[in-house]
Amino acid sequence: MPASIEIIQADITTLVVDAIVNAANNTLLGGGGVDGAIHRAAGPELVQECAGLQGCDTGDAKITGGYNLPARYIIHTVGPVWHGGDKGEPELLASAYRRCFEAADQHGVTSIAFPAVSAGVYGYPMREAAVVALSAAQTAIGLYPELKQIIFVQFNAGAQQVYREAAVRLGIAFI
Ligand code: AR6
Repeated sequence: MPASIEIIQADITTLVVDAIVNAANNTLLGGGGVDGAIHRAAGPELVQECAGLQGCDTGDAKITGGYNLPARYIIHTVGPVWHGGDKGEPELLASAYRRCFEAADQHGVTSIAFPAVSAGVYGYPMREAAVVALSAAQTAIGLYPELKQIIFVQFNAGAQQVYREAAVRLGIAFI
């Protein structure tokens, strides 16, 4: 059975999955948005582990424990800041998703949940961000047969609808 793709509305910190992805910044030391929510829910030990990671390049990802979260791991990735789309943003965002799936595979993760990386404070248009995210998931399903569940989590119904429309346009099946 290939992995299922789910598009849901939820607070990512509540999900019972092997790994959740954090939309972090280059310091990995916390911030606002989903990053702040994950650090608050995971507890202070998370920032201690993050402090030993020497930050993270844009388009890369690093993994930590999940601490007080239901998820076993947190995969911290740094998406690009949107500067209009011709500064390498699509390639950097695709790289961020690719590196998350690689880290997940290296740690035996079978279920993973992503927020809309870069589509908040970093300003990436949700519609374009959804296409990059869903295309990366489709590629990962072909590469990693152990992967069973890929969840795209939106905070609000509008963003969830944008993801659903993008999946339909790309011909990607989802739940
Ligand atoms: N669960 C799911 N999605 C959420 C949650 C949550 N608890 N909270 C926010 N979102 P953002 P970025 C959605 O700004 O654009 C931080 O300060 C949110 O509605 O968190 O990659 C970092 O430290 C939006 O759709 O991430 C960086 O400095 C999506 O998550 C910077 O923000 C991503 O929004 C990264 O900016």
